[in-house]
Amino acid sequence: MARKLILDVDTGTDDAVAVMLAALHPALELVGCTTVNGNVPVQFCTDNTLRVLDHIGRGDIPVFEGLSRPLARSDFPVARRLSDHSGKYHPDTLPVPPTALKKQATGAVEFLIETYRAATEEIALVPVAPLSNIAAALALDPKFVERVPELVIMGGGHEIGNVTPSAEFNIWGDPEAAAMVFAAGFRKITLVPLDATHRALISRAHCAQFAALGTPAGGAAAAFIGHRIVVHDEHQKQAVPHTTPVHDALAVGFLVQPSLLTTRRLHVAVETQGPLTVGRTVIDTHGRGRQAPNCDVAFDADAEGFVELLLRAFAAKA
Ligand code: BDR
Ligand code: CA
Repeated sequence: MARKLILDVDTGTDDAVAVMLAALHPALELVGCTTVNGNVPVQFCTDNTLRVLDHIGRGDIPVFEGLSRPLARSDFPVARRLSDHSGKYHPDTLPVPPTALKKQATGAVEFLIETYRAATEEIALVPVAPLSNIAAALALDPKFVERVPELVIMGGGHEIGNVTPSAEFNIWGDPEAAAMVFAAGFRKITLVPLDATHRALISRAHCAQFAALGTPAGGAAAAFIGHRIVVHDEHQKQAVPHTTPVHDALAVGFLVQPSLLTTRRLHVAVETQGPLTVGRTVIDTHGRGRQAPNCDVAFDADAEGFVELLLRAFAAKA
């Protein structure tokens, strides 16, 4: 039986690859996508998610729009640019055609609360964006924490930051929300930080393999990841030149194939105060805080297995 999941996204090139993997892999059943302010303003995240789902023939998957800003902060960073600057698309829009699909009338937080309240089967929750929607659900429904059987979160970094020397974007984007989520007492959290995603780099040669599949998902993956490689070469060079992590898709990949990640069971908290460290995931690798572990934290990834998984999923037509 396929594993059910809800994907919380700020779509985004790597979110888009995650959405396609979740929507197309036969071992997964994507119950819905929720969107949140992050890579671009939330209305663009929603539109991008709808475009991608339509493009791959999965317009049946509902999309629920969530928070347009962090829980406690007004100083959210400037949006990133997602397209190739050719002028054909708005810079906050992914380079896939417009869609007539519409978001659902229900908001993301209400959808999350109601879905888990009514669930009779396990639904994994996979946030790959700032954690504002998840923290809002926690705040509104005291039972939410018990009802979510499993969280797989892309965010944080131990050795690597990508916004500041200390912090990764998803956690830094709403540190108070992230602090709430890690302290809430969820029974199973897997954290997929930059330390793991930077071990599963995708190259131009891989993009050519995606394009050669001749499917909408293969073509889109090649375009999105190709654009990421350009941006990473310019702003965030990786250990292997002309490659990029595809962070969010790795978190989804883990649900299908847990062997993709090598994890350690550790305590994780989030810094919300320090002027130099705000948004840092404080991962207690040596048990100094003497707190019970609350996460399985990934430090390594099977790069080859990840690409193979993506290739198999994107070969299929919806
Ligand atoms: C994370 O930040 C976002 O820009 C990406 O979509 C990913 O979720 C990586 O730091
Ligand atoms: Ca994301």
